[in-house]
Amino acid sequence: MAEPFEPKITAFVCNWCTYAGADLTGTSRIKYQPNVRVIRLPCTGRIDFMMVLKAFTRGSDGVIISGCHPNDCHYTSGNYHARRRWMVFRDLLEFVGIDLERIIFSWVSAAEGAKWADLVNEVTSKVRALGPYRELRQLAAVGID
Ligand code: FES
Repeated sequence: MAEPFEPKITAFVCNWCTYAGADLTGTSRIKYQPNVRVIRLPCTGRIDFMMVLKAFTRGSDGVIISGCHPNDCHYTSGNYHARRRWMVFRDLLEFVGIDLERIIFSWVSAAEGAKWADLVNEVTSKVRALGPYRELRQLAAVGID
């Protein structure tokens, strides 16, 4: 009998807010789904959408992008840059066939450990319902990565 599908979620988070919030989740002993792998960046403004594509080609079924709330970015406007970049690239990603339902943006502050747990649980359930994301992995298998 086949194993039930367990999604792999990659989370790109900023160091100052969401990473600290995720840390608070752990120190508060709040339980949440173990499906997420966190990649810590200095700021969401650092995120290049090639990173998101690479996450999918390397096996992720879903991606979370999360940083400081608006007006709280430690580099002043990195989160606004990330949001603007997303607005520009989402149409392009959709055009090339990326399932946008698998990319989730959020703001989680250093004080929102419970929100981080809720976000991970919601995204894991959503991606579990969507099923495995094999399309981009197949591109990587033929060398388009
Ligand atoms: Fe957190 Fe910029 S430092 S989004």
